[in-house]
Parts: sequence; C-alpha cells; structure tokens
Amino acid sequence: MSIIDLRSDTVTTPSPAMRKAIAVAEVGDDVFEDDPTVISLENKVAQILGHEAALFVPSGTMANQVSLRMLASPGDEILCERGTHIVNYEVAAASALSGIQLTPIDSPNGILTPDLIRPFIRPENIHHPNTAVLAVENTHNRAGGRVYPMELLPKIGDLARKHNLKYYLDGARIWNAAAFHGVSPSEIAREFDAVSVCFSKGLGAPVGSAVASSKANIKRARRIRKMLGGGMRQVGIVAAGALFALENNLDRIPEDHRRAKMLATMLAEANLFGNNPEEVQTNIVVIDLPESLILDSFINDLKSDGLLVVPFGISRIRAVAHLNIDDADIKKAAEILIKTAKLKI
Ligand SMILES: Cc1ncc(COP(=O)(O)O)c(C=O)c1O
Repeated sequence: MSIIDLRSDTVTTPSPAMRKAIAVAEVGDDVFEDDPTVISLENKVAQILGHEAALFVPSGTMANQVSLRMLASPGDEILCERGTHIVNYEVAAASALSGIQLTPIDSPNGILTPDLIRPFIRPENIHHPNTAVLAVENTHNRAGGRVYPMELLPKIGDLARKHNLKYYLDGARIWNAAAFHGVSPSEIAREFDAVSVCFSKGLGAPVGSAVASSKANIKRARRIRKMLGGGMRQVGIVAAGALFALENNLDRIPEDHRRAKMLATMLAEANLFGNNPEEVQTNIVVIDLPESLILDSFINDLKSDGLLVVPFGISRIRAVAHLNIDDADIKKAAEILIKTAKLKI
C-alpha cells in the first residue's frame, strides 16, 4: 500500500538531482570557516534575506536557540505568542540552556499586535526581568500556518525599537509567508534584527537551517553555535542540499498552498469536519474532528488506510502539503479522511 504522508513538510526526501548536488559538493572544515559550499550558502541566505551575514546551523531549534542567546542574556525575558515553537516544542531550551524566561502572550489567532504586546513590556524596576526581545513566528505553525499581515510587521518593530527591544523572527517558514504575500523573503526579513530560516521544511532539503543578522551578531552566533555543539566539519555535504533547495524549490511553494486549500475545500464540502478553507493561508491544514471521533483511534484508522497525519490538540489533527505530494495524493487523502470519519460517526 502506498502511504500519503501529510504529517509535516519535514518528511520530504531528497530528489535524485538534489542527491547529485550533495554528492559532488566541494567541502572543507567549516569550524575553520574553510568550507566553500557552506560559505556560498551563507552568502546566498544573507543576500536573499537582506541581512549582512548568515550562519548555517543543523536545525530550526538550534537556529532559534542560537538567536535567542545572541539577542538576550541570562536573566532576560523574551516576549512571544503562547502557541509559538519556542514555547511549545523546544524542550524549554531557552530557560534550560540560556537562563532566559519566555513570557507568552495570548492571541486569539496566533498573531501578535502592538495592542496585545504593549501591556507586557515592563518598566525598569529592580524586581522585574529585563524585557530584551520580542519574538514572532511567521508563518505560525500552531496557528495553522497563519501569516502576519505585511503592514503589521513594521508596526510591531516600531514598538520594539521604542522600548529598546530586539526584534526576532522565527522564519522557519518565511518562504511560505513570502509566497502568500507575493513578496521576496527580504521584504519580511528586513524588519527584524535577526531571522532564522529552515531549508528542511517547505524547501525540501534533508537537513539545515540558518540565522541571518548583522556581521557583529553573526560573529557572536558562531561562538554560541560552537558552545551548543553545532560547529560542524565537512558540512558542505549537507549545505549543498540546502543550496539546491533554495535555487530550485522556492518558486514552487505556491503549489503547496493551492493543495492545502484544495484539501480543506474538499473536507468542507463533506460537511463533517470543523475546518474553514478560508482560514488556510499556506501549506498547513488544521482539521477539527467531530466530537464523536476519538483522536488516537481516528489517526490509527487513517494510518491503516495509508494516510499519515499528526494530532494537533485535543480534538484536532494537522495535515501539511509539501514537495512530495501531488494533486492525486490530496484527492486520495480527502477520500480517506471522509470515508474514515463517516464509518465512525
Ligand atoms: C516554526 C518552527 N520553528 C522552528 C522549528 C524547529 O525546526 P527543527 O525541527 O529543524 O528543529 C519548527 C519545526 O517544525 C517550526 O515549525
């Protein structure tokens, strides 16, 4: 039985052409800053994001943790939305590794606004943590791949600057946000003091992320990466996959968005699930299950029929369109979801 894997956009496998680029990559020792493929990738990322410099790191989690440590110090506080990856999916790394407190702000749809943030910026007082950074996630995974409106980003940036806060973007899926708005990634990234991006999500590389910022910040980030054990040697072999992904897979991202919308529309037409196709902005579809369905057993039934999804809350699943999914997969996935739900309701 063929399996349709919609668990995440991280499940893609490298194409033969990407594997070829990896096989022939020129390499050197990157801790000595000698790896030409890594240097090319870092230069390209800096250029695409409109920042002075960039640093290749093994994962999105390390990109976030290097960035937070680069922008804040132990005893500082970082403001962010409650559903963000740094709050929910990084094993409390900011507090465990860097002594940084994350202060989550609630938002009805995952998107922060100056009005939501303002009450959380603390005045200087010996009792308070020092509010040092404002972090946003765009697109926002737990909010179903939701995108920040373009006009909101500089408004939040102005608030951050007014209060001397650094402005940070977890841009693991900045590619999707840029595709949604029809802008270049730099138009989003330029608003921020530092930005992280991932190559192993929408872009389909097997491994890798990057942090972009000023030259001085990236020099510091390089030391922090080493401290966290992320200094890698002949890692051009991996960077080559990321370079290939940037050069070949950026322009096709709108296809994933169209397919996610297609899945959501087919499900809405069946009138069984609580999902609204209008809310699907990028490649992520969040599906609310009818009350009578038990989450774990529904997911197992889907699996037996050849469809993989992940739980995404008490009565919710997530399905993600990606590079290895075509229109036929989406149609089949919708059929399996509808058939399985009908049997159980
Ligand atoms: C928004 C966001 N940031 C960061 C990460 C972390 O990436 P990684 O799994 O490569 O550590 C993810 C992973 O899904 C993510 O969705």
